[in-house]
Amino acid sequence: MTAMKALVVYESMFGNTRRVAEAIAEGLAPIGDVSVSRVTETSHAQVIAADLLVVGGPTHAHGMTRPQTRANAVERADRPGSGLVLEPEPDRRGVREWLDDLPVSGGWAAAFDTRATMAPFLTGRASRGIRARLRRKGRVMITRPESFLVGGSNRLLDGEEERARTWGAQLAAEVTSSTRAGTG
Ligand SMILES: Cc1cc2nc3c(=O)[nH]c(=O)nc-3n(C[C@H](O)[C@H](O)[C@H](O)COP(=O)(O)O)c2cc1C
Repeated sequence: MTAMKALVVYESMFGNTRRVAEAIAEGLAPIGDVSVSRVTETSHAQVIAADLLVVGGPTHAHGMTRPQTRANAVERADRPGSGLVLEPEPDRRGVREWLDDLPVSGGWAAAFDTRATMAPFLTGRASRGIRARLRRKGRVMITRPESFLVGGSNRLLDGEEERARTWGAQLAAEVTSSTRAGTG
């Protein structure tokens, strides 16, 4: 079988979703060619070339970020003693806008988010909106959307990076077996 390409694309304000994306990419390693990239730095050509496209972002106001929620996040980080460190160009563009501009391309996809530890009906899940947009762009979901959890001070809970690595490995196994079965 020829090596497959997997691309993990993420949006992140405070670094948690980036850490999850990097851990997922590590888990995906058995696929062969795996890259991880911020939404603002990912070209359409990279997406079209990817057999598996994994997209994730932070949950803001019960869904994907918007310009106003990204501005709120910057304000929160700028508060004295917040302890939050902003990613480069944090408020420029999110997964919502990036996915809306994406061309239609076939292939597999998966969606993830980071969110607070409460029940999903209270927190919302950015990954639901990501999944809907990926489907609109012609992608077939290989698994259900997954959430990785941050605590009260906006830090990933212990063990979540490890869980993300395992989730990435499960995606790799799923894609490989589906392709072998001729459903890819
Ligand atoms: C403006 C703003 C709104 C948020 N709204 C929600 C929310 O509705 N539900 C939730 O679970 N978490 C919410 N959060 C917490 C974020 O999900 C959390 O900051 C994010 O997952 C951290 O990821 P990042 O470090 O990659 O930015 C919000 C955070 C900010 C800054």
